[in-house]
Order: sequence, then C-alpha cells, then structure tokens
Amino acid sequence: MDFRRKLFYFLSPEVRFFVRRLYFLPMDICDSILDKKDSIRPPKGKIYIGSGDFQKTGEHFVDLLKEKCGLKAHHQVLDVGCGIGRIAIPLTKYINNQGGYQGFDIVKKGINWCRANISSKYSHFVFKHIDLKNDLYNMTTDQAAKNFIFPYAENFFDLVILTSVFTHMMPEDVDNYLSQIERVLKPGGKCFATFFIINRDIFKLMNEGKGMKFEFNKGHYFLMNENVKEANIAFEEEYLLSGLGNYNFQIDSVDYGYWSGRSKSVYSDFQDSIIFSKLMS
Ligand SMILES: C[S@@+](CC[C@H](N)C(=O)[O-])C[C@H]1O[C@@H](n2cnc3c(N)ncnc32)[C@H](O)[C@@H]1O
Repeated sequence: MDFRRKLFYFLSPEVRFFVRRLYFLPMDICDSILDKKDSIRPPKGKIYIGSGDFQKTGEHFVDLLKEKCGLKAHHQVLDVGCGIGRIAIPLTKYINNQGGYQGFDIVKKGINWCRANISSKYSHFVFKHIDLKNDLYNMTTDQAAKNFIFPYAENFFDLVILTSVFTHMMPEDVDNYLSQIERVLKPGGKCFATFFIINRDIFKLMNEGKGMKFEFNKGHYFLMNENVKEANIAFEEEYLLSGLGNYNFQIDSVDYGYWSGRSKSVYSDFQDSIIFSKLMS
C-alpha cells in the first residue's frame, strides 16, 4: 500500500474532513464566486467520498441505471450510502414527482449538505442520516450495520443502488443489507451494486503486481488495511454469488471493472458491478 494511502487511513475521519476542507478552501472560494447560482454542486472540500470527477461519475452512473436497470422517471429509487449526492444530483434532472428518491448515509455532514441543497429544491428527494459505525467513515457510535433495519416499507422501491458502499462493509453487514434490500424492493425491482470481486484471474493479476492490492486474505473476503478494515474490502466471487443466492434474487449481470489491473480499454468502469432483481414470487 502506498505511503499516502497509509497516511490517509491513519487519520481519523474528522481530521480527514478538516484537512480536505482546508486544502480546497481557496479553490472553493473562487468557485463560489464564479458558480452559476442554479447549479447544484458541493464544494470540493466537502466531497469526502473519494477522488475522480464528481459530476461526470454521477452522470455516468445515472446513464448506466437507465440503460442496464431500466430506470424510469416515475420510479422510486433508494440510494444506500448516498454520500454527498453524487448520484442524487443528476437524478434530480430525471426522476419526476410521480416517482421519488430516498437516500441514507452514516455521515451526517453529507446528509446535511444534501438536505440543504437538494431536498430544498426537490421535495421528492429525501435524505436520512443513520448513525452506524464504520471505521473509515464514522467512529462516533457503536451501532452495527448488521442489525440495522432500513426505515422503509416493504415492496416499495423499483431500484436500489449502492455505488462504492459494499466495498466498505464487512460480510455480516453486507448480508444484513441484502436481506433489507430484498424486503424493500418491489417484486421485479432491481439492485445495482458495485464491489471489488476476487476470482482466480484477479489472483493472477495481483501476483503479477497489477491493480489494487488486497494483502490480507480472510478466507472469503480480503482487506487492504488491517487497522482500518472498512477502508477497502474485496469479496471472493463464489462467496458473493452464493450469498445472493440465499435471498429471493436472480442475478442479471456481473460486469468487471479495471481496479484489479484488467485492461481499461476493455473494462470501462473502475469497480465491478452486479445487477440483481427480486423474483416475482
Ligand atoms: C465511497 S463513498 C460512496 C458514496 C456514494 N454512494 C457515491 O457513489 O458517491 C461510501 C459511502 O458509504 C457510506 N457507508 C459506509 N457504511 C455504510 C453503511 N453501513 N450504511 C450506509 N452507508 C454507509 C459512507 O458513509 C460513504 O458515504
């Protein structure tokens, strides 16, 4: 693991937020003067969810959701681990009043920003803060994700999305979330979730020194850092697919990304993704 990443994980979530805010402050002040008043965009210093082009990535995900999951303007969408609105912002241009959007996250700062800047303009976009422990994002509680019951009615959502969320969750927590997703999805509804998936090909690439390194093999899952376990978590493919098989789901597609050293010209997305649907009966 490179030194910068190690240092980043060494800092507490609060210190990381603070350093980022400070680093981008001059740029954010300029942007706030130049920004068009009607555009919704968090200041760079508040984007705590990782690097990459925030706007382009969000728009790309929305295109994928339309193309691969059949997302329609009147659908009810649940964005689990919605962060600071990367997907919600482009969705405001698509989901109409007949449909709706619900997002929840364990980081209060992101949810507060989304409420103030998105829900204030689009009342059918609703954000909830849920105080759960994650050793990368929220250390202020001991409440575990493995016990959390999603605060939504059963059979309600057409689509559930988790972009770069299961990549930060331990197996027992993922298992509980799968059971909750099964409960809140309508029969026939879909889930789009991204992962780091390990299989034989990936072992080969890792041994060749390619891609991200998950050095700590825990059997069916792999960690990048043993001190901050939820910094990045990869799952063994067979374990993941058989776990999905424990629920009333059908797997629609498994698409690999290039995080593992696969060729970017063939695999255009960074993380792997799985689309699965809730069976009709
Ligand atoms: C890499 S960020 C991705 C955010 C957002 N999905 C996106 O694509 O912009 C990971 C997010 O997962 C959230 N998270 C981690 N554990 C969670 C949990 N148990 N339940 C809900 N959100 C969680 C973090 O707070 C963080 O906002």
